[in-house]
Amino acid sequence: MFEHRHFVITGGSSGLGLALAQRLVREGAQVTLVARNEQRLLAALDTLRGESPAAVVHCRVADVTDETATQDAMAAIAAEGGAIDGLINCAGVMREGYFETLTQQDFREVMEINYFGPLNATRAALPFLAAQGQGGGQHGHKGGAPAAWLINIASVAGLTGVFGYTPYCASKHALVGLTESLYYELAPQGIRVQLVCPGEFDSPMVDTLEHNRTPENRAQTLSIPKASLDAIADDTLTGLHKGDYLIVPTRQARLATLGMRLVPGLSRKLMTRTLARVYRGPATRESVEPGEQT
Ligand SMILES: NC(=O)c1ccc[n+]([C@@H]2O[C@H](COP(=O)([O-])OP(=O)(O)OC[C@H]3O[C@@H](n4cnc5c(N)ncnc54)[C@H](OP(=O)(O)O)[C@@H]3O)[C@@H](O)[C@H]2O)c1
Repeated sequence: MFEHRHFVITGGSSGLGLALAQRLVREGAQVTLVARNEQRLLAALDTLRGESPAAVVHCRVADVTDETATQDAMAAIAAEGGAIDGLINCAGVMREGYFETLTQQDFREVMEINYFGPLNATRAALPFLAAQGQGGGQHGHKGGAPAAWLINIASVAGLTGVFGYTPYCASKHALVGLTESLYYELAPQGIRVQLVCPGEFDSPMVDTLEHNRTPENRAQTLSIPKASLDAIADDTLTGLHKGDYLIVPTRQARLATLGMRLVPGLSRKLMTRTLARVYRGPATRESVEPGEQT
């Protein structure tokens, strides 16, 4: 399905973005990684080439919060790597803390990266993705390989509320809303829109979070056991192959999110009980700076 198709992956230098790049390359795709730090991008290219010496892989430095820079990057990617068949919006950051200890700036930064970042990258890539769909009259959600893909990496935190994740949940809910609407708007252009909502998994983002995490957040997020990066990436790829719109990697996360949707009142009651057992609250954290978590 992905052989000789060209995917641009924002956040492709680390964690899930890199793990997806590795899998797509193994299936014969060409990938271009986008992130801010050039050293980490080059290291990621070395990893990909080390695993698959024949891989066609490129990278481009860009901050997805910068609309103009993202437009320029996408144009340069198309000029260097040719037609763009897919965009995977994976760049993201996390802040965790009590609502009272997080600043307005934390909320703005998380929204800029996790919501406006994918929005900017989607706007920049859309002409290239749409060009792949032109002429075929193919619907993005019909069976087989679509003309193009838009794949947004949100989170289980985009489907429910999470203690300590007020900025993160808000940004991921916004991304889910954008993706839901684009599903309908882009399919007639031959673009398959897919939404990936993982629970917590091992990655540099989570390693940083562990240093200064509220006990309430730990209790709630770990109600779905932390998954390995490989399990998340493998399940995501399976969902992409199947053409599922909503991909919730790992069986445990699928069961948990199903419960949240089918019996939301019961889910809230059970979580409230879990949180009451560990509750400390913002009074214990007044002197702690929330700090960036990625
Ligand atoms: N880890 C989890 O438990 C978890 C759970 C659910 C969902 N997710 C989501 O999965 C995605 C990947 O998470 P991860 O844990 O794999 O993260 P990660 O290892 O921390 O990687 C984040 C990537 O995003 C890039 N990035 C961050 N800000 C950027 C910006 N402004 N412009 C361009 N690139 C930027 C980073 O590179 P630079 O810093 O060099 O730019 C890096 O490549 C995120 O969207 C995250 O919200 C993660």
